[in-house]
Amino acid sequence: MTDPLILGIETSCDETGVAVLEGFTVRSFVLASQIEEHARFGGVVPEVAARAHVEAIRPLVHQAVTGAGIHPDQLDAIAATRGPGLIGALMVGYAFGKSLAWTLGKPFYGIDHMEGHLYAPRLEYAAYEPPAIVLLASGGHSEIIHVRAWGDYSTLGTTIDDAAGEAFDKLARFMGLGYPGGPVIDAEAEDGNPDAVRFPRALRDRPFDFSFSGLKTSVVTYLEKAKKEGTLPSRPDVAASIQEAIVDALVEKTFNAVDETGVTAVGGGGGVLANRRLRTRLQEEADRRGIDLFIPSVRMCTDNGAMIAAVAIDRMNNGGAPDGWALDVDPGMRLGS
Ligand code: KG4
Ligand code: ZN
Repeated sequence: MTDPLILGIETSCDETGVAVLEGFTVRSFVLASQIEEHARFGGVVPEVAARAHVEAIRPLVHQAVTGAGIHPDQLDAIAATRGPGLIGALMVGYAFGKSLAWTLGKPFYGIDHMEGHLYAPRLEYAAYEPPAIVLLASGGHSEIIHVRAWGDYSTLGTTIDDAAGEAFDKLARFMGLGYPGGPVIDAEAEDGNPDAVRFPRALRDRPFDFSFSGLKTSVVTYLEKAKKEGTLPSRPDVAASIQEAIVDALVEKTFNAVDETGVTAVGGGGGVLANRRLRTRLQEEADRRGIDLFIPSVRMCTDNGAMIAAVAIDRMNNGGAPDGWALDVDPGMRLGS
């Protein structure tokens, strides 16, 4: 049997991502980022996002199909993100994908965005297999998932308030560093001392859960006080110290879950996994324990169409039913539901 050719579309937030996969091999990968459009508002504006997806989707799908060197008729299926995400943004990719599938007479699969992040390492590591603990950290989610088998997940931990990416974004905005906050703090922290300021680590008594809203309060309080007292550390030192507090929590709780379950593989996905300090710290901890770590390249960590197509391939190969034509997006979709 030849590997299926699948078109994957991702439009849940602020990136229009389209890709063609042949099995788990990436044949084409295109992305249109809306960062510039949202930057002047300091965050993603849902209406602006939906509008930008409408403008980007047709040329990007065309680019992905021609870039893969195929004719649309050769596709075996089409997949698009069904949720979770911004409703208007989701509807653009989902409706476009469904219409294209209908026109071509191909099956259509609506995919869980977080399952996409969970699958992304499969596109780069043949050895990435369950059982595994997977850290998913993005702008809207911070979760620790126990993957018992593909399609069989339990959520061990989650955030009780802000997501890790949200913490980066809010703190960067407070510091006047710009948007999105993760990459700017990552860059600013490069020359900073992570031990310059010891910000509190929350929820030490809950082994798998996160809380980041207290960090925000303590950074704000600390900076205001230091400014008054004339003891303000350098911006790189503050950025590195904030980053260290977030990374500490993510690393500690991920490996608490490894200890609890006894797995020997750790995966990761979501925009925050692009963070260089987090990647280094996860690798150090994995090496120390002899655990295999599967963190994809930066372009596969952030939102993209390839990860969406990857989930659809398994669903198709396992005889999973395509989405019915009457089905719609599900902005509140939960992994495993
Ligand atoms: O997965 P993603 O691209 O979109 C969502 O599904 O939310 O994640 C976006 C989030 C943003 O909060 C962004 O600040 C964060 O990922 N991010 C980072 C880095 N690159 C992106 N956070 C920390 N360090 C980075 N290098
Ligand atoms: Zn995402």
